[in-house]
Amino acid sequence: TSEPLVLGIETSCDETGVGIVRGHTLLADAVASSVDEHARFGGVVPEVASRAHLEAMVPTVQRACETAGVALHDVDAIAVTAGPGLAGALLVGVASAKALALSLGKPLYGVNHLAAHVAVDQLEHGALPDPCLALLVSGGHSSLLRVDDVTERVTPLGSTIDDAAGEAFDKVARLLGLPFPGGPHIDRAARDGSSVYVDFPRGLTSRRDLERHRFDFSFSGLKTAVARWVEAREAAGEPVPVADVAASFQEAVCDVLTRKAIDAAAAEGIDDILIGGGVAANSRLRVLAEERAAQKGIRVRVPRPGLCTDNGAMVAALGAEMVARGRAPSALDLPADSSMSV
Ligand code: KG4
Ligand code: ZN
Repeated sequence: TSEPLVLGIETSCDETGVGIVRGHTLLADAVASSVDEHARFGGVVPEVASRAHLEAMVPTVQRACETAGVALHDVDAIAVTAGPGLAGALLVGVASAKALALSLGKPLYGVNHLAAHVAVDQLEHGALPDPCLALLVSGGHSSLLRVDDVTERVTPLGSTIDDAAGEAFDKVARLLGLPFPGGPHIDRAARDGSSVYVDFPRGLTSRRDLERHRFDFSFSGLKTAVARWVEAREAAGEPVPVADVAASFQEAVCDVLTRKAIDAAAAEGIDDILIGGGVAANSRLRVLAEERAAQKGIRVRVPRPGLCTDNGAMVAALGAEMVARGRAPSALDLPADSSMSV
């Protein structure tokens, strides 16, 4: 008996993703993004995203099947992101997945987007260690999770109390005149800058904050500090050293993320940290996490950048895990839940 062939659909934000996996093997990962349509607004516009998903869905499903070399009727199960995310965007994916499951007579698995960001690593590095500590950092979320079983036992240890890490990258990029989404542009600009040029604040790391928010994050103070610094430079009629500010900002974010992730792993007695979500594509975050974890004897797993940003393969990967672990499929009246928790 071969492992289950699962098609996964992701539409929680601006990426229409359709992935096909067999067990832990990635066969196709087709992604159509509406990011360019949002760029001039400086952020994702929900209505625009929903319409784009509707247009992209069928061609993206077809492209995934062609790449994988499978026909739709060969698929054993359909998985879809049921939440969290933009309500209208989720609805397009959920409705499409239901239509496929119903017409093919195959089971439907509604999955959690955050858990899918964790499960995707199995496609690259094999079975997840149980338990593991996941640091999920993207445009919509920044969380530390204890993962005992990615299909049903994921426990939040902390999360951002204001902006998500990716949101901070995007807002600071805007301040520096870099395009949206800003993360990759800051990452690139920072390579030519000094990370100690400005000592930006590390949110929720004071002794007092740690008492109440040991594993929580805060990035809005950092964003404001960058804005004030840039304004002061401009007011003085001096040029803004974009590379240095980008590098210093990036260091502040990566410093806090890695420190808290390693602290959480140590507190939970966990030896494996998995980093996922769009910000996990950040080159400095990867290096710093490796360096600091190694000093504590902790291993770090980070999927390749293409699997860190939103995609359908992560949904298929979690769906395949649910099939493998014998989880019950969802009913065909599965709702989209924009604020779904793990
Ligand atoms: O996971 P994702 O594709 O979508 C959400 O679920 O939000 O994450 C997108 C976020 C954006 O904020 C983007 O700026 C950020 O991930 N990002 C990065 C990098 N690549 C993407 N942030 C920092 N460095 C990067 N290399
Ligand atoms: Zn995401």
